[in-house]
Amino acid sequence: MKDLIRELIQQAVASLIDTGVLPPGLDVVIQVENTRDRTHGDFASNIAMMLAKPAGLKPRDLAEKLRAALPTDPRISKVDIAGPGFLNFHQDHQALARRLDAALDDPRLGVHRDGPAQKVVIDLSSPNLAKEMHVGHLRSTIIGDAVARVLEFLGDTVIRQNHVGDWGTQFGMLLAYLQEQPEAGETGLSDLEGFYRAAKQCFDASVEFAERARELVVKLQAGDPACLALWRRFNSISLAHCQQAYERLNVKLTAADVRGESAYNDDLASVVADLDEAGLLVESQGARCVFLDEFKNAEGNPLPVIVQKAGGGYLYATTDLAAVRYRSRVLHADRALYFVDQRQALHFQQVFEVARRAGFVHDGMQLEHMGFGTMNGADGKPFKTRDGGTVKLIDLLDEAEARAYALVREKNAELGEDELRTIARVVGIGSVKYADLSKHRSSDYSFNFEQMLSFEGNTAPYLLYASTRVASIFRKLDQSTDQLPGAIRIEAPQEQELAGKLDGFGEVLFNVGEKGTPHVLCAYLYELAGLFSSFYEHCPVINAADEATRQSRLRLSALTGQTLTRGLQLLGLETLERM
Ligand code: ARG
Repeated sequence: MKDLIRELIQQAVASLIDTGVLPPGLDVVIQVENTRDRTHGDFASNIAMMLAKPAGLKPRDLAEKLRAALPTDPRISKVDIAGPGFLNFHQDHQALARRLDAALDDPRLGVHRDGPAQKVVIDLSSPNLAKEMHVGHLRSTIIGDAVARVLEFLGDTVIRQNHVGDWGTQFGMLLAYLQEQPEAGETGLSDLEGFYRAAKQCFDASVEFAERARELVVKLQAGDPACLALWRRFNSISLAHCQQAYERLNVKLTAADVRGESAYNDDLASVVADLDEAGLLVESQGARCVFLDEFKNAEGNPLPVIVQKAGGGYLYATTDLAAVRYRSRVLHADRALYFVDQRQALHFQQVFEVARRAGFVHDGMQLEHMGFGTMNGADGKPFKTRDGGTVKLIDLLDEAEARAYALVREKNAELGEDELRTIARVVGIGSVKYADLSKHRSSDYSFNFEQMLSFEGNTAPYLLYASTRVASIFRKLDQSTDQLPGAIRIEAPQEQELAGKLDGFGEVLFNVGEKGTPHVLCAYLYELAGLFSSFYEHCPVINAADEATRQSRLRLSALTGQTLTRGLQLLGLETLERM
């Protein structure tokens, strides 16, 4: 609806420019908001206040002229002028009711895209292997997965790329340690974290060990079969750990989505050669670099993007250049979205710019770094265990489930053990995910079990509960939500509020898909649940005054339930029938 209204206003502005009321060449951003009080219309725009000055008119007078110039549309029943000159739009409730009726009978809930679908690469999770996944990888995994699901639902072709760090100096260290302690092999590898720490200790303590580690990296990179075999074992164990975490987190990532740094190995020399051919390469102290005018350090000196070290080794940036080229030329992506820590912002700006200059990506391809902030502990400091170590993801998830178990048992003592466990899992894991998803990704966020498991506020337990409440209405009636008879009628103010919100689901999803911001969907679901509560409180459903009203309200309830469930699924949460 907001898009429609913006479009109508746009046309009115254009026609006032034609008739000379407004000066030509206006650069206007048309804002359309929901009204606070629906008795004054459903949507409002301050456009007349924005343009009063260039028009040389009082805002209310300009509002009059704009209103007269607005094209009519069957979805808008009337337009008022309010206050200092707001244009207030009343939507046609019958048209709205018909849209919602159609949405209820549509598995896509009435969400259809106008433009063509796109091919979107999503770079997500991407942990460094040879270490166990820790909480630092959580945000990329969860946020990237939610955006991938939303884009898929909107009809895009999504290609997930798990750009794991499977190639680098840390492997030399691990190989050296394994050589030294062959018996650490089988048992040691089941505890990758411990194995990594032990190897690191040797590396830091012994010059001779460190030297051997470096030699082994060179051997590995030269393709030595024995080193490669060991390296493969490390990676497969490490990836199996990741896969367990993905499954537990209900994240749609499989082995097929893994395309790690090593996959680009054979491409790196040609990346450097092509940069040279494009005239972008400069030698600086033996290293090969690209300098771009737009990147300078604090002193104003140009910052290099180093693509090859003096010793011949390649870098993180070189691999990313190869990867972005692959995503354009082989995967033919229209967009590539990178869900990576905000601290890598400069790296991505540089990589994207170099890739464009070198012609590695086709002109129309959108490249977007979807950065996110740091995950802190409840005290606002970086998230650590009590003794200062990094928190293992698996431990965190265990604790979430244990806490959810205690909570659910306390609230609902008569549940059987199996059901209790299922609910605890869905609520516990869902809470960890939702707490992350509901904050704007670019801000840092504090991890707080008490808050995320609360049944009040914008939390997973609240929303899961809200969706089960709708399900319980139909359970009581012993009725399924498909094939509900009747038609939606929008009368009471609470019905208007609820219906207007339901109608906005598609717009919210497109917004999430465009900006990579799942918190917008969380906020929407939270508001929807709140509006449903007041609707349910004020508008009797089962005991409605007449059959037509009862049918209408049941249909509204069913659509709310489906929207909540679908929304939670798109965020990557499992849902429950009851809790
Ligand atoms: N492995 C990297 C890290 O842990 C993240 C990789 C992100 N993706 C990329 N294409 N660079 O920092």
